[in-house]
Amino acid sequence: MIERVREKASLPQRVRIFDTTLRDGEQTPGVSLTVEQKLTIAHQLDRLGVHVIEAGFPISSKGERQAVRRIARAGLDAEVCGLARVLKQDIEACIDCGVDMVHTFVSTSDIQREHTIKKSREEVLELVAEAVSYVREHGITCLFSAMDATRTELDYLLQVFRTAEEAGAGIMNIPDTVGVMVPPAMRLITSEVKRAIRAVVDVHCHNDFGLATANTLAAVEAGAEQVQVTVNGIGERAGNASLEQVVMSLTTIYGVETGIRTEHLYETSKLVERLTGIRMPPNYPVVGENAFSHESGIHTHGVLEKAETFEPGVMTPEMVGHRRRIVSGKHAGVHGVRAMLAEMGVHATEEQVREITARVKELGDKGKRVTDADLLAIAEAVVGEVAKQEKVVELEEFAVMTGNRVLPTASVRLRFRGRELRGAETGVGPVDAALRAVRSVLSEVEDIRLTEYHLEAITGGSDALAEVLVKLEDSRGNVAAGKAAREDIVNASVEAMISAINRIFLMRGIEKG
Ligand code: KIV
Ligand code: ZN
Repeated sequence: MIERVREKASLPQRVRIFDTTLRDGEQTPGVSLTVEQKLTIAHQLDRLGVHVIEAGFPISSKGERQAVRRIARAGLDAEVCGLARVLKQDIEACIDCGVDMVHTFVSTSDIQREHTIKKSREEVLELVAEAVSYVREHGITCLFSAMDATRTELDYLLQVFRTAEEAGAGIMNIPDTVGVMVPPAMRLITSEVKRAIRAVVDVHCHNDFGLATANTLAAVEAGAEQVQVTVNGIGERAGNASLEQVVMSLTTIYGVETGIRTEHLYETSKLVERLTGIRMPPNYPVVGENAFSHESGIHTHGVLEKAETFEPGVMTPEMVGHRRRIVSGKHAGVHGVRAMLAEMGVHATEEQVREITARVKELGDKGKRVTDADLLAIAEAVVGEVAKQEKVVELEEFAVMTGNRVLPTASVRLRFRGRELRGAETGVGPVDAALRAVRSVLSEVEDIRLTEYHLEAITGGSDALAEVLVKLEDSRGNVAAGKAAREDIVNASVEAMISAINRIFLMRGIEKG
């Protein structure tokens, strides 16, 4: 079926990826990146192979100008672009940063013209001609956006684009600013714009109805040669078209080249997630934690025989730098549980596997999410010897200093796969300092996040036995719990943390050295 769509479409051979994570993505409510963070993301986008990095909106703040300047001077392969209204001072701020491309924009729809910029149609045409000419006089590539293009009367929109083209803009962007398009409409508007001008046609779709990716692909079907996207689809309101979804659909479904090194997609998504604080839902396509996870017995059985049975096939986890996971839960089957146990290094007989599967289902039936840590605990109960797991991380020693006039400080010495790691950290209290010290020492090898901490006094009195439960998550989304009971809360906390860390490494199947 898709072949018929491909034959009928006006697909270009190659599509340029214009990444606006650092501009529209940073406009996500609550997101604000430092200059260093923006630079880190820019380097990663360059590694990924995007054609253009929209680094920011230089006129908006001193920090933004500094970030755009640093990115423009970073010696990246990607072209670096700055955003500007159709105003000289905005364009000068971009030029001053040393960008390769200026992206200048103005509202063209009646609603935005009348209520925001308060300009007539003729005035807008004059502003477009002046701004584009000004950019071109400086010998810089000009990308022009007719903001709210998809709600602009078509004849006027085409007149705006022709004006921009005559003034020298080489790339014309059709923004679906408030995300109101549907794919057939996006195909139509793109074809009309392509017929009217010779410049490269670019699209910028917002996701208000969850159609940003579909609309972007529809525009490419109608001949758009450049697409504006963001990592993880972040951006104003419901976000922008997602880079991962658009790139993987273009390359694997449509057979259009993008030049993106797709094996870096997962790590790029994780980096942006960590630096922006915007977490992806597990079911997010391509890079979400469940994108290649299977729980139900029928699916895991199929996937273990041949992955394409319950995966797209044309897109594998390896292609995007992700991994396939078999997950336990009430839908689990013996095939999946056997594979998971093998991955964790647990040797169970067929009878034990059946027993473990039954217990996993029982837990799932009670409405519990069965984590990998739960599966290990069940396996431990059924098989017994799992407890004697080899330790990847061993605590050599730790010391904590606290008092009413000193900042609680902890120093830790660990052995990681035979290598000694040491370090110190401060915290709000001795437990916080100790756990921070363990994390900081290990950050050299893995970024571990403490997601839960519970403390319970089992007995009474100041020498009460305290039980600590910690839950950790690693950079790949593995979650593990660790428990320890001691009279000393700090000792119990560190012990529980080390136990959870070892579980995480066991799950990842890291070879012990
Ligand atoms: O959504 C939009 O219209 C924009 C423009 C600046 C292109 O982000
Ligand atoms: Zn936008």
